[in-house]
Amino acid sequence: MSSFACWSLFLLILFYSPGSGEKAFEVYIRSEKQIVEATESWKINCSTSCAAPDVGGLETPTHKIILDEHPQGKWKQFLVSNVSKDTVFLCHFTCSGKQESKSLNISVYQPPAQVTLKLQPPRVFVGEVFTIECTVSPVKPLERLTLSLLRGRETLKNQTFGGAETVPQEATATFNSTALKKDGLNFSCQAELDLRPHGGYIIRSISEYQILEVYEPMQDNQMVIIIVVVSILLFLFVTSVLLCFIFGQHWHRRRTGTYGVLAAWRRLPRALRARPE
Ligand SMILES: *[C@@H]1O[C@H](CO)[C@@H](O)[C@H](O)[C@H]1NC(C)=O
Ligand SMILES: *[C@@H]1O[C@H](CO)[C@@H](O)[C@H](O)[C@H]1NC(C)=O
Ligand SMILES: *[C@@H]1O[C@H](CO)[C@@H](O)[C@H](O)[C@H]1NC(C)=O
Ligand SMILES: *[C@@H]1O[C@H](CO)[C@@H](O)[C@H](O)[C@H]1NC(C)=O
Ligand SMILES: *[C@@H]1O[C@H](CO)[C@@H](O)[C@H](O)[C@H]1NC(C)=O
Repeated sequence: MSSFACWSLFLLILFYSPGSGEKAFEVYIRSEKQIVEATESWKINCSTSCAAPDVGGLETPTHKIILDEHPQGKWKQFLVSNVSKDTVFLCHFTCSGKQESKSLNISVYQPPAQVTLKLQPPRVFVGEVFTIECTVSPVKPLERLTLSLLRGRETLKNQTFGGAETVPQEATATFNSTALKKDGLNFSCQAELDLRPHGGYIIRSISEYQILEVYEPMQDNQMVIIIVVVSILLFLFVTSVLLCFIFGQHWHRRRTGTYGVLAAWRRLPRALRARPE
């Protein structure tokens, strides 16, 4: 027989012989969670349809302990912990000399632990541009994160992030705005990690509130006017005091000067007094 005929025969036997293409028994893997935090421990149940399996177990690179098992070994329950990255778990059973297995991928998430909001600059005049910047500590999976920049209760921006990074990533969202009078409001930033597609829930974290100080340029003009007016009044006052002093001195000198000349004239002898005439 040629090798082609041999291969055909093999395939024929494989697909048409009753039962040979099917599994003799089933293996199931059930996990309490599909996505876990690195610090978490949770339960995984490995079970089989085989009535009396020879051996069975869970293959994992992480730490595990056996919690409970069926007397005939039809299921085994494990407590798994210490996963630091996305991990494949594999349940396997051997029944009448045949082995079957089933795998499950467990993802690891990192919640938004810290959300920081910065207003730059922290105080502005009405009509000036300012920037709201929100930064969140490393998060995973990043594509499930939404950063929302809020003014009071109003959402200014929702920012999502693409890419499927395998390591936790820091994320930043910014928004440029022009200061209005009402911007003297509360700004905040919310980080939302939506783990529902991974069988988890929504984790939210919010930044501290930041107040933008908005100044009216009017007030500043008034201040300048007040300073100018006060300066002019002060100058006038000082000038008048100085003038009063100078004129007072001058008048006094003139008066005493006149008396001096008159007195000297009077003190002169009559003969001398008549001489210049
Ligand atoms: C494990 O799974 C099997 C099959 O679904 C079930 O019969 C058994 O009760 C489970 N064990 C535990 C401890 O939940
Ligand atoms: C947890 O994992 C780290 C590294 O991933 C390892 O060094 C440590 O021994 C593990 N701890 C346990 C209890 O398995
Ligand atoms: C599980 O992970 C492995 C390797 O990380 C990947 O090849 C496989 O497609 C994943 N399976 C599922 C069902 O996501
Ligand atoms: C941001 O998302 C929230 C809810 O997820 C929605 O109510 C709001 O309209 C969105 N705002 C903007 C500006 O996209
Ligand atoms: C900012 O607003 C929040 C609620 O929206 C409130 O709890 C908080 O006290 C406000 N902070 C200031 C400084 O006004």
